Amino acid sequence: MKHKSLEIKYSEYNSLDDLSELGQQLVIKARAAAKNAYAPYSNFHVGAALELQNGEIIIGNNQENAAYPSGLCAERVALFAANANYPDSAVKTIAISAYNAKGLIFDPVAPCGACRQAILESENRFEQPIRLILDGKDKIILVEGIHNLLPLSFDQNALNG
Ligand code: THU
Repeated sequence: MKHKSLEIKYSEYNSLDDLSELGQQLVIKARAAAKNAYAPYSNFHVGAALELQNGEIIIGNNQENAAYPSGLCAERVALFAANANYPDSAVKTIAISAYNAKGLIFDPVAPCGACRQAILESENRFEQPIRLILDGKDKIILVEGIHNLLPLSFDQNALNG
């Protein structure tokens, strides 16, 4: 038996101003998208803004349903819309913001497990890592590639291997 460990890497920023111009723009778009979320059941409004290789920016927000599991997270709404409209353009960056009843959430919003899996699929599809910008009022986290949030992941290699 061997004990093993994996390292994950991320950077923390204390202010939106410390991000690149494009990073700031994506966060602002994610925040705006969150305002248009349909989240009457959780009152947790999430927005995502994607930067594509072709320069397009695609937004998404969570879409809830009275039959709870029929709803979808902001990240997947944005990812699937991007892939539906621009099937040949890789996703370069995804910024995620969220508001609860008190406003912009304090700790950076982390994508749920299912969204991490969908982000991994997009990375593999376009053979390119996706940068994640996780927005929060207190700090902003920048992650270079979903493997940092989803180590030991399941992908197409498992199906074929
Ligand atoms: N939600 C997202 O849209 N993205 C996340 O990363 C976390 C959760 C949504 C799903 C549901 O509509 C609400 O937030 C509460 O879980």
